[in-house]
Amino acid sequence: MKKTLLLTVDPQEPDLQKIRIAAGFIRKGGLVAFPTETVYGLGANALDAEAVLSVFEAKKRPLDNPPIVHVCEANDACRLAKEIPSKAGVLMKRFWPGPLTLIFKRSSVVPDVTVAGLDTIAIRMPRHNVALALIRESGCPIAAPSANLAGKPSPTSAKHVLDDLGGRIDAVLDGGPTRIGVESTVLDLTVDPPQVLRPGGVSYEELVKALGTVELNPVVVADHGLPVEKARSPGVKHKHYAPNADMVLVEGEVRTVVSKVNELIDSYRAQGKKVGVLGTDETVDHYEADVVKTLGSRSDLTVVAKSLFGLLREFDAEDVDVIVAEGVPAEGLGLAIMNRLRKASGYKIVKV
Ligand code: TXA
Ligand code: MG
Repeated sequence: MKKTLLLTVDPQEPDLQKIRIAAGFIRKGGLVAFPTETVYGLGANALDAEAVLSVFEAKKRPLDNPPIVHVCEANDACRLAKEIPSKAGVLMKRFWPGPLTLIFKRSSVVPDVTVAGLDTIAIRMPRHNVALALIRESGCPIAAPSANLAGKPSPTSAKHVLDDLGGRIDAVLDGGPTRIGVESTVLDLTVDPPQVLRPGGVSYEELVKALGTVELNPVVVADHGLPVEKARSPGVKHKHYAPNADMVLVEGEVRTVVSKVNELIDSYRAQGKKVGVLGTDETVDHYEADVVKTLGSRSDLTVVAKSLFGLLREFDAEDVDVIVAEGVPAEGLGLAIMNRLRKASGYKIVKV
């Protein structure tokens, strides 16, 4: 156990002194959790193999799943990538800083552990003043997976980080709750047309608008577990976003979803189980379960994305045996939301 220092900062104009304390840990090979616009990341100097290795250890993350390398200027990507295809220029201009991670062929300055032995690297420039200031003051690119224990929902607050990693990392920069709530979109630029490996904060529709043709990797839209070979992004083959309780996801037209959810509540309760429901503003009044929570309105998926991971953690705190969750339309941000819900359910999906 080490002491984890909590550094509370203003998300817009962070106190430079506190950023420098955090950067001091990074420079010395330590681990600092920090907010981004998507979720909190657990950062280490991306060019320090030992430091990156300790990120894997702190998270209990399998070594074959590389983190994203965060930069504070688009130019910094040039040193880390072997080549920057012209489409990348278009995307960086349009979406950086922002929730878009780009996969490039990697350069030899990057240690093997940072890319899990792959010949490619994931790079993004986050849109968050705390993250950008930390990278700048550290003077190095920062490798940062989400700051949760492997398999748990990603953290959208400093409290989530401390719940998982308190005593295992040097410091947390607390910049309040994150704005987007689901992780960045991961886009592979080593293939043409480019392929979305993980849906996230930048929607598929926006990428198509910027580039023309963009493909979706089969795992992005999968509604059942796929064979590992299909997963070009190493992370997708591992268990993810899972609450402790069993989870069932009900997908379909809203009215039929409501009656199916009610049917499931009854049958689980008849088995003596403590049942939680993850519904939406439009539907929660129709449910009677042990715990009922709303993701927000179906008409505003930005709120749904923002609340999703925190609510999954709340169900764990209330010790429910099973969570029955409603699906939302898989368009715009909905694609990322549904991808996380489906994974969280272990692909236990009921289509009505
Ligand atoms: O929003 C985010 O992306 C957050 C914040 C902290 O930036 N980070 C995050 O990192 O979600 P992580 O490590 O939890 O997810 C990174 C994803 C994983 O699915 C990983 O497999 C994939 O990116 N990835 C990393 N390097 C890759 C590579 N070279 N090729 C394909 N996928 C890669
Ligand atoms: Mg993660």
